[in-house]
Amino acid sequence: MSSTSELVVEIKTDSAEMTREVAKDISAILRPKDTVILTGDLGAGKTQFVKGVATALHVKDSVVSPTFIIGAIYEGDLKLIHIDAYRLDSLYEVLDLGLDDEFLDSICLIEWGNKIADFVENVFLTVVFGFGEVENERLLKVYCHDQNRLDDVKKVMVDGLYFSRKEKEISK
Ligand SMILES: Nc1ncnc2c1ncn2[C@@H]1O[C@H](COP(=O)(O)OP(=O)(O)O)[C@@H](O)[C@H]1O
Ligand SMILES: [Mg+2]
Repeated sequence: MSSTSELVVEIKTDSAEMTREVAKDISAILRPKDTVILTGDLGAGKTQFVKGVATALHVKDSVVSPTFIIGAIYEGDLKLIHIDAYRLDSLYEVLDLGLDDEFLDSICLIEWGNKIADFVENVFLTVVFGFGEVENERLLKVYCHDQNRLDDVKKVMVDGLYFSRKEKEISK
């Protein structure tokens, strides 16, 4: 993983739907080969985020938690690889998945990806999920590892749809 990592934005969501909406907005800047690492405790919203990306990519199948199957590949506008690294312990297990060719034209989302981040190429973003102070509140911290695309991330997160929608809601 690239050593550069800049915290781009912290977002508080108050529902699973809002977490999925944030994911949809982030999807707009994802390109083939990008890997996004999702970290945070059980129930923090990582799989909800993957569902949002899947919706944005027009994946027809419903995304399920891959905890017991390690990974799944979904067909959409782009291919979506969804890996849960919770039970993966080594580089060899990652290689054993045999996904090398699949990565080339896919977007890859890895839950618990911090465990294997050193072995994964093309890590573009890390999203760290934390619990908020009240029920259903989650804090998403988005880190960008590609200096050249920092502005894209800032644009979509800070000036993008999500915040203008929120502002409209607030000003109602
Ligand atoms: N703000 C929120 N963002 C994401 N999920 C939320 C939120 N509030 C409540 N939830 C609920 O928390 C759970 C998150 O589960 P999941 O996405 O599977 O977590 P993880 O994959 O991190 O273990 C879901 O049941 C979801 O409905
Ligand atoms: Mg999950």
